[in-house]
Amino acid sequence: MGVDFLVPAAGSGQRMELGHNKLFVSLGGQPVLLHTLRALLALPSVERLLLIYRQGELEQLQRLCRSIDWGRVQPVWIEGGTERADSVRNGLRYLLEHPGAEVAMTHDAARPFLSGQLYNRLLAALKSSPAAVPALPIAETTRRALKDGRTEVVEREGLYLTQTPQAFLAAQIKPVFFGPQEHLTLTDEAGYFEQVGLPVALVPGDPLNIKLTRPADLLLAQAYLALNQS
Ligand code: CTP
Ligand code: MG
Repeated sequence: MGVDFLVPAAGSGQRMELGHNKLFVSLGGQPVLLHTLRALLALPSVERLLLIYRQGELEQLQRLCRSIDWGRVQPVWIEGGTERADSVRNGLRYLLEHPGAEVAMTHDAARPFLSGQLYNRLLAALKSSPAAVPALPIAETTRRALKDGRTEVVEREGLYLTQTPQAFLAAQIKPVFFGPQEHLTLTDEAGYFEQVGLPVALVPGDPLNIKLTRPADLLLAQAYLALNQS
């Protein structure tokens, strides 16, 4: 099964507090975005990488990518939108208008440690489900802050944190994302499948597949890199 990847990279990195898109920050001597693209290019069966850039950053991103050997993978540049969902939707619209691989996956550019094993688990799950996502069981006591200032524990049994890649059959893009729920803004792609009543398979996530979100995540990422290089 061939795979087209959508790589949302059009955020502004507010929580990283750098004053610019966190994907440009250097990790072990190379920008985060390049780590992510190299991890994606190392996977088998990838046909196209749709890079979703922030308005005004295309040139800078393309300059960064000059050192990349795309091999047989075709890069496609697509402008993103205000929310992650808008950025992904622009990529999905491109796939609808230029159909290609049987499988589509979205992968946050801010997750540089995607592994081949996780990718294989997702592909395997798509043999019996139209969509699959990596999920990690919540490991800590989970609490909700109530509006009146009180708090309560949320039973964590059956609760998971969801990662990317999010994988789905390309044939489902039109009915799931461009049907009646076209105007919804959800935080992940699996949510749209749930909205139309289609099953989403959960595959075991990878604790090392972190999303670089806050400053401390950069320290963790440096430690992971050092592990991989030793
Ligand atoms: N993203 C995107 N378009 C947006 C917002 C986010 O393509 N309008 C991308 C980010 O570049 C990132 C991924 O979606 O690779 C996950 O989003 P997140 O970690 O929230 O990144 P940012 O939105 O950049 O960070 P923040 O929410 O802290 O501003
Ligand atoms: Mg964000």
